[in-house]
Amino acid sequence: MKKSHRLDKIPPYLFVKIEEKKAQLLKDGVDVIDFGIGDPDLPTPKHIFDKMHEVLESPEAGQYPTSKGEFSFRQAVANWYKKRFNVTLDPATEVCALIGSKEGLAHLPLAFIDPGDIALIPDPSYPVYKICTTLAGGEPYLLPLTAKNNFLADLANIPKDIIKKAKLLYVNYPNNPTGAVADKDYLTKCVKFCQENNILLVSDLAYSEMGYDGYFPHSILEIPGAKDVTIEFHSLSKTYNMTGWRIGMAVGNSEAISALATIKSNIDSGAFKAIQMAGAAALTGPQDCVADNNKIFAERRNVLYDGLTSLGFKFLKPQATFYMWVPVPKAETSASFTEKLLEKCGILVVPGSGYGSSGEGYVRFAITLPKERIAEAIGRLKEAGITG
Ligand code: MLT
Repeated sequence: MKKSHRLDKIPPYLFVKIEEKKAQLLKDGVDVIDFGIGDPDLPTPKHIFDKMHEVLESPEAGQYPTSKGEFSFRQAVANWYKKRFNVTLDPATEVCALIGSKEGLAHLPLAFIDPGDIALIPDPSYPVYKICTTLAGGEPYLLPLTAKNNFLADLANIPKDIIKKAKLLYVNYPNNPTGAVADKDYLTKCVKFCQENNILLVSDLAYSEMGYDGYFPHSILEIPGAKDVTIEFHSLSKTYNMTGWRIGMAVGNSEAISALATIKSNIDSGAFKAIQMAGAAALTGPQDCVADNNKIFAERRNVLYDGLTSLGFKFLKPQATFYMWVPVPKAETSASFTEKLLEKCGILVVPGSGYGSSGEGYVRFAITLPKERIAEAIGRLKEAGITG
């Protein structure tokens, strides 16, 4: 079989390897405490399921959706953006439904990147940005996110010749995997940089609803003029515990939305209509489920943070996301520490290096498990004598 050279350039997806490893451990009888993938363990709220059931009864439910999304879903997205961020979107031209934000992020480079073009990508970051830039023939130029720069990419340090060839700048706050947040000043700098250099700003806002201690993350589209240069990706996955439903949205600049929709219409036929309707119900229905989730995640965050810091690990308590970005002990690497936690404690974390070379020296914990299990994990670490 002769496969494409393209395939040689990409690894298997990070979580494929991790899931295989977990499956093997479970088979071997290990009681794995899983801090791996960011997949909420809490249920999708009932009113969303009810809407899905209702739509399933209708004769058109099984017919082709439009790949750009049903108008009622796009309208629900526009209304939600208005209410949540005071951002006005035209549902006809500035909103596109996605089969999860990963799908849209993966297809976007096909619309903007030609061979040799550069995408400016934070490192560490969600692997899809880099891999799909590469699949489109482009070259990722990595912007290190470090504790020293508060996990905010330093745009002033990008060489001029790189900027010239750059077509996309990816920004993701609240950030996966670091849990870092960005204030409006930083986001404004990103907008200005893209305006000055004719670059499309790609904002991944998947974690905007997971803020704690009174912190409410911003959409970049709140910044005056941002819509001229920005496409923003969002997802219902984390907000409403809907990872498996695969429903998200791209919003913002109409030319960018139209370019993405053209790619999509040639590849997929859109998200299942009943899921779009259930998604609209999520966005327009009662939002107390979001606050209830955040209360649970904040409690879990406290248990993990207090436990890890009591063991000598030093890092900032995240204000958003359900991730904790924890430096590994001095003698360890991301991979060796991940291995040690699994072997000695049955604790599964993600090696920071899986998100890029600047993630070396860290592991990521996702707090997608009950606080009792988190406390149990801290107990196992103590018993194994693991300290920061
Ligand atoms: C993560 O855990 O980093 C992501 O949520 C997983 C994914 O979307 O593939």
